[in-house]
Amino acid sequence: MVIGIDPYVSGWLDLVFRWFHVVAAIVWIGTSFYFVALDQHLHEPRDEADLDRGVSGESWEIHGGGFYRIEKFRVAPRQLPKPLHWYKWEAYWTWLTGFALFVVLYYLQAHTAMIDTSVANLSTWEAIAISIGGLALAWIVYDGLCRTIGQRSELALAACILGLVVVTAYGASLLFAARAAYLQVGAMLGTIMAANVFFVIIPAHWELVRAKEAGRDPDPGANRRGKQRSVHNNYFTLPVLFSMLAGHFPFTYGHDHSWAILVCLMVIGAWIRHYFNNRHAGRTLWWIPLTAAAGIAAVAVWIRPPSTSPAAGATTVTFAQVQPIVAQRCAACHSLHPKLVSAAPLGIVLDTAAQIHAQATQIRVVAVDSHVMPLGNATHMTGAERRLLGAWIDAGAKTP
Ligand code: HEC
Repeated sequence: MVIGIDPYVSGWLDLVFRWFHVVAAIVWIGTSFYFVALDQHLHEPRDEADLDRGVSGESWEIHGGGFYRIEKFRVAPRQLPKPLHWYKWEAYWTWLTGFALFVVLYYLQAHTAMIDTSVANLSTWEAIAISIGGLALAWIVYDGLCRTIGQRSELALAACILGLVVVTAYGASLLFAARAAYLQVGAMLGTIMAANVFFVIIPAHWELVRAKEAGRDPDPGANRRGKQRSVHNNYFTLPVLFSMLAGHFPFTYGHDHSWAILVCLMVIGAWIRHYFNNRHAGRTLWWIPLTAAAGIAAVAVWIRPPSTSPAAGATTVTFAQVQPIVAQRCAACHSLHPKLVSAAPLGIVLDTAAQIHAQATQIRVVAVDSHVMPLGNATHMTGAERRLLGAWIDAGAKTP
């Protein structure tokens, strides 16, 4: 079944939700980076009186034309301070707007955006149910791991989470269209992050506040769990950001081994966070950014598309051979008068020889090196047609 949404309306919903989502995410990630860095900057108070007041760490900072002195209390100050600032809405809004975007751009256009029948022959409802079920399952499994293995060893927990990401990335690649598969993995990790705030970190803060109000010692476990999840969220930020931005890079999500590329780049992202977290604590481990850069270079070399240049002596492909392929397989959407959509996606029009020539490099990326286009292979493009198109582009994309 097909759920319809007016493209102009969905365009505006996309704009508003995306804008909001990016702003909320910047604020959330900003606070995550700031507080983890702050924790690493803290040093023992120099003044005895501060120690007596229960201060466990302090840090001087300069920003925006002023000096700031930040203090962290071992447990809590003697009196519950008012006003006390909490950080939670940026997390909740990031998730809510992200989910809204997912609904508008994927769930409501599942037949083109989520489902690729050459990957899995899902119905709209199956695709949506699997996606939402995946978000919930990710949290349940992750939370269970944290409460069991995570109590004993952070390293074992990290290995389990990595395993979870590998299984998820691979599973999503067997179920969804390439681009949607990346977003599904990112959305699952993003859901874990928001749920960490909602179900663990904020309740831990409530425990601190209630204990203070009741004049009792807070449960130290709540504190530890809150800190653990907050550190996890910090390590998830760069991997999730990559999955969210990867839609711009068809050579990653459109590759045959897209899931492995996603895992590699996510691991490198977390590795880079590790560098910064150490650096804030005064340890500059240069080999981390060096190995991260080497890792990215290795992925780039690995996934470099093979040249499809025709062998010497092969007959050259002419524009006359290519034009009908583009007209039949692409112009149903990428045209001034498209049949399958209301307007050419991203303004990419492939009606004339000059337009096709101008887009040649991009066409190679999405329709030859990968099968990202035609979207969901709605126009049933064949492998032979892709090879022909590739040979024409490699020979210079010559038009009469
Ligand atoms: C069913 C409709 C449809 C068909 C058929 C189709 N496309 Fe697309 N194409 C889209 C949509 C939708 C987008 C925008 C995706 C996005 O939001 O980034 C797109 C985006 C693109 C892009 C930009 C990719 C990027 O992310 O920068 C290129 C290039 C492209 N298509 C080329 C082609 C070619 C070449 C063909 C034919 C082989 C083709 N498309 C067939 C719907 C289609």
